[in-house]
Parts: sequence; C-alpha cells; structure tokens
Amino acid sequence: MKQYNIDRKIKNNTNYPFWFSMLKEASEVVNLYELNSIVDFGCGSGGFTQLISHFFNNLFITGIEIDERLIAGCRKINKNRRISYISHKKMSSLPKVDLVFSQEVVYTQESLLQHAKEIFEILHNGGHYIFTIGCHIENPTWAVRRNKIRSSERYPVFDYSLQDIADAFYEAGFRVMVKKLPMHAPMKYVPQQDGEFSSISDMIRSSEEFKFLFIMLKPRFKS
Ligand SMILES: C[S@@+](CC[C@H](N)C(=O)[O-])C[C@H]1O[C@@H](n2cnc3c(N)ncnc32)[C@H](O)[C@@H]1O
Repeated sequence: MKQYNIDRKIKNNTNYPFWFSMLKEASEVVNLYELNSIVDFGCGSGGFTQLISHFFNNLFITGIEIDERLIAGCRKINKNRRISYISHKKMSSLPKVDLVFSQEVVYTQESLLQHAKEIFEILHNGGHYIFTIGCHIENPTWAVRRNKIRSSERYPVFDYSLQDIADAFYEAGFRVMVKKLPMHAPMKYVPQQDGEFSSISDMIRSSEEFKFLFIMLKPRFKS
C-alpha cells in the first residue's frame, strides 16, 4: 500500500496517519479483497471511507455517524456510488456486514457492553470489528487531552481502561485480540496554543507508545 498517489484532501486530515495505519494493519489480518461490505462506525467527516475505497474499490462502504451535520457534509463531498452515509438511528436496518472499523470512537460510547453488542449484531459470523484507541486511561497524555476534547467537541467522552474494553467485548461474545498500532504514515505537527498535545514529544509519545489496535472476531461457530 503506497501513499504517494492518495488524494491530498484525504492526507491533509490530521487523522490520516491513523486511518492509513489501521487499514494497513487490517489488510495483514483480513483479506479485504475478498470482502463485500464494511462499515466505518463514527465516520466523522468521511475521510477514512474515501481512503478505504482508494485501495479497495471492490468494497461497499457505509459510514455511520450520530452527528447529522457530519453526515450531510460527508454526502456533499462523496462522488463514489459504492460509499454511503447513514445515521446511527438507521444502523439496525443495515444488512449484516463483513467488517466494521472505527477510529477513536469507542471512548465516546456511554456503555462499552452495549456498543460491543450492537457491533456484534451487525457483523456476519466470522466478521471482524477492528478499531484504534489512544484515548484511554493508561495513556499519560489522556487526562489533559480529555479536558480539551470535552471543551471543544460535541460528543461525550468517557474514561476507560484497556481492560474495561477487552472485558466488555469478551462478554459480548467476541474473541479479543490487541496490538500496538504501528504508525505507517508521518504525523503532522502544527504548533497550537491550546491543541490536544502540548508538544511534539507529547504527540509522538501518545501515538507511538499508547495507541492500540483491537481486533475483535465474531466467531464463525458458537463455542
Ligand atoms: C473522535 S471522533 C473520530 C472521527 C473519525 N473516526 C476520525 O477518525 O476522524 C468520534 C466520532 O464518533 C461519532 N460518534 C459517537 N458516537 C456515535 C454513535 N453512537 N454512532 C455513530 N457515530 C458516533 C462522533 O460524532 C464523532 O464524529
């Protein structure tokens, strides 16, 4: 997976390095060319859905968002008939999918168990939920970041440990796998008076040491 011919508009997003890294890691574990339908849960402004289709134009991709303004924005910029965007309210009417991704969304969920169950429900047996998480209580930059996110974003923020996450997904019926998320793309540093990170070392530390990739498998057969 090479990056040089990816659209600038996708690469300009500060979350691009995480999207690219998650997709590259996922493609090592799952044969994305053999899949048909996937979801990006909490798709935000839709950049990750566009990145997925850049590499895997065999896939039907649904971005799910709770924020209606973001859905409207995603629909406005989308020119790809294989990508669609729906509200979280409509999620239960979606046919089952092969794979769900999310990038830094799990910490915004009020109940981990309920979230794990709703994703379990929309996956085919043998499907995966693959997500990143750097916003957790083991990350030493989290306490400061959390307060900044709380004051600048519309979504809620919760304090979870990696153990809380693993336990909730296990209880929902997933096989739980985890690894560090290696960074496969350079991160963009912009000096900011009141940004999420207080310095470039803070940003590197948070992403290189404390950002994890969970790979949850919905077993093919009940054990
Ligand atoms: C930290 S942002 C990450 C956005 C995007 N994944 C990215 O990497 O740029 C979390 C997103 O999850 C969305 N979100 C939170 N709860 C949601 C839910 N229940 N259903 C769908 N989207 C949700 C928020 O509105 C927000 O856009």
